[in-house]
Amino acid sequence: MSGPQIITLTQHILRRQRQHPSATGQLSALLTQVGVAGKMIQAQVRRAGLIEVWGATGETNVQGETVQKLDRIANDTFIDMLRRSACVAAMASEEEHEVIEVPREMAGDYVVVFDPLDGSSNIDVNVSIGTIFGIYRRCHPDDILRRDVIRPGHQQIAAGYIVYGSSTMLVYTDGVTVDGFTLDPSSGEYFLTRPNMRMPDKTRVISINECNEPYWPAWVAPYCDAIKSRNDADKRRVSARHIGSLVADFHRNLISGGVFLYPIDARTRRGKLRVIYECNPLAFIAETAGGAASTGEGRMLDLEPQSLHDRAALIIGTKSDVELAETFVRRYAQEGA
Ligand code: AHG
Ligand code: MN
Ligand code: MN
Repeated sequence: MSGPQIITLTQHILRRQRQHPSATGQLSALLTQVGVAGKMIQAQVRRAGLIEVWGATGETNVQGETVQKLDRIANDTFIDMLRRSACVAAMASEEEHEVIEVPREMAGDYVVVFDPLDGSSNIDVNVSIGTIFGIYRRCHPDDILRRDVIRPGHQQIAAGYIVYGSSTMLVYTDGVTVDGFTLDPSSGEYFLTRPNMRMPDKTRVISINECNEPYWPAWVAPYCDAIKSRNDADKRRVSARHIGSLVADFHRNLISGGVFLYPIDARTRRGKLRVIYECNPLAFIAETAGGAASTGEGRMLDLEPQSLHDRAALIIGTKSDVELAETFVRRYAQEGA
């Protein structure tokens, strides 16, 4: 994992910055700080696994965390790191009820929204989890406004995630390309290992929590059947894979080609996933990589959220199959009408 041809995350970000002569460098600094926050969180995630195994050694007071504790650690790490970066004016987190404003003397030009730990129910069972983030330019030079945070996802200028899987990987987009960096634990650096990631054209994987089927809208089961029916007796073309960590399900589908669905549930009459810090960052990545993301009724990035923790249905992945889902939604809406 060395050699002069291998580019680090910081080198990549600085090279990109040179393509924008008017750039102040603040976005570059911010992305670098996000990478550092990711390193700190992954160190805690990796240690929590060890403590779970070696819990009887006495080292449990600080590190023997519950899932909620690790959520809190990830949240505090992200907030503290970004607050001190001098690049951020405001933040919104899944774990915070309200917008977090940065004191004026430390505030920068950007607004960051994030899910500090996605898939936290998977921590105890050593399954991949991650951090999701989206970045916007602040709307007003002096004040933080409601529309700094509660805004459609197409206004994002960058977005990404860090997945704590078999290795730690940071994937981010500036709206031009999607690039993936693997953390080398020995040097502590992220290296560009998946430049210009593209969502494959073909769906190889369908990801959905099938136990919710009795509560799906009418279009979902026939849509899933349509995808499954691509398999022949002598040839398997699609398979089911559902991790239960959106970020990890998305990451796999981005590499292998697939569609992830979390439809509206009749019990709650809404989707589960949060628009601002779960759906929109991944939607921005999906579109930049040549995929798509939809609520079923329209482009996810055009949805106008009404409040910080709004939820929506999400269909994300291979473009043709996200579009196919929209045709199923329309067909069943007509039949139901
Ligand atoms: P979080 O851990 O941030 O609360 O998010 C969990 C989300 C998402 O990662 C996953 O796809 C989904 O919840 C799974 O929900 P179900 O258990 O309802 O399938
Ligand atoms: Mn989440
Ligand atoms: Mn979370």
